Amino acid sequence: MCGDDLTRDDLTRDDLTWCEVNVLRLEQNMRALRRHLNAKTLLAPAVKSNAYGHGIEASAQAFLKGGADWLCVHTIAEAKQLREAGISCPIYCFGPSMVQDLELAAQLGLHLVLYQDSHLERLRYLASQQAESIQDLKLHLKIETGNHRQGLSLEQALDFTRVLKENGQLCLSGVSSHFANVEDTVNQGYAELQMSRLIEAGEAIESLWGQPLLKHIANSAATLLWPNRALDIARVGISAYGLWPSKLCQTLVADQLEPTLQTALSWRARIAQVKNVPRGEPIGYGCTYITTRPTRLAIIPVGYYEGYDRSLSNRGQVLIKGQRAQVLGRVCMNICMVDITDIPMCQAGDIATLLGEDGSDCISADELGTWADTINYEIVARIAGHIPRYPVNV
Ligand SMILES: Cc1ncc(COP(=O)(O)O)c(C=O)c1O
Repeated sequence: MCGDDLTRDDLTRDDLTWCEVNVLRLEQNMRALRRHLNAKTLLAPAVKSNAYGHGIEASAQAFLKGGADWLCVHTIAEAKQLREAGISCPIYCFGPSMVQDLELAAQLGLHLVLYQDSHLERLRYLASQQAESIQDLKLHLKIETGNHRQGLSLEQALDFTRVLKENGQLCLSGVSSHFANVEDTVNQGYAELQMSRLIEAGEAIESLWGQPLLKHIANSAATLLWPNRALDIARVGISAYGLWPSKLCQTLVADQLEPTLQTALSWRARIAQVKNVPRGEPIGYGCTYITTRPTRLAIIPVGYYEGYDRSLSNRGQVLIKGQRAQVLGRVCMNICMVDITDIPMCQAGDIATLLGEDGSDCISADELGTWADTINYEIVARIAGHIPRYPVNV
């Protein structure tokens, strides 16, 4: 299952818990999205936040192999990690940055979002000092179209454009925005409004700048729902990992994708201990569960520090030998307890699957999200970064 003929046991011998990332599926998701999308639109998967928990370097490589044109990150540090891993494709960094990191962004040759006065000031200063590679930095103005997160009004964006044009050394490359509400509604009026504001701003800025600019606003939901209206760049995140931005989006689009999206992440742990508990005994902190029968418990070395949310207390399930085992009692910081009374022959060292497939069953990020009262995005992104991610290819 793993590269170089290593078995799971070879790979994970020293790990209490680990993730397996099916890189072939990530590649295939890219191909499916590429096929779905207007051929003129650049495909730019987001590999921020450790590739939505999937491991940034292996995911980035898989996406590029599957046909990604660009990569998107949140931080300049993530972009640096990609460059250090030998990745030379265009990288768009869309998160907030520190002014003192702008020189590094230029040295890395990034596409960088711009919406802060302090950053424009610093860029002008760096250009006046003829800072190394400053002309390699490609700036994308972020327009406030209605998400009220980051962004400039059209007037502010035009002022920024005038300053950049006068400067003559700084390169404006794009105009971007971000949707507030595409995935969760059948009424696309607000998204349409945001789209028209972006297009209007893009045209005004382009005509002032005097050269074509890349215009982009599409996330996964917009790319899936409006494949022919994704403008110049599709910044797909969650869908690249085989997860749907929402149930509604899945219902509307799933049968239009060929092949369909496939999840790629499994999270496993080795049972640390197996023990018998009599009927009527409380389990864990707060004594929130009292055994209703003689119970066989497996101790799983994963808790909320590792990213297994405390809201899964008495609610979550894991797979052991292809069967479901219920979480009993509260999830602790580094441990949780599950009921294996009905799963014969379990012993310490056996593998528990917290997320992903085991046998014919699968615990999905959506299912975990329902139990934890959150979204699939949060489930995968919060699996702790220190847990090893092993690329697998079957
Ligand atoms: C600016 C920006 N673009 C694109 C994305 C990708 O969104 P999604 O994962 O919904 O495709 C994100 C994710 O948060 C984002 O912040």
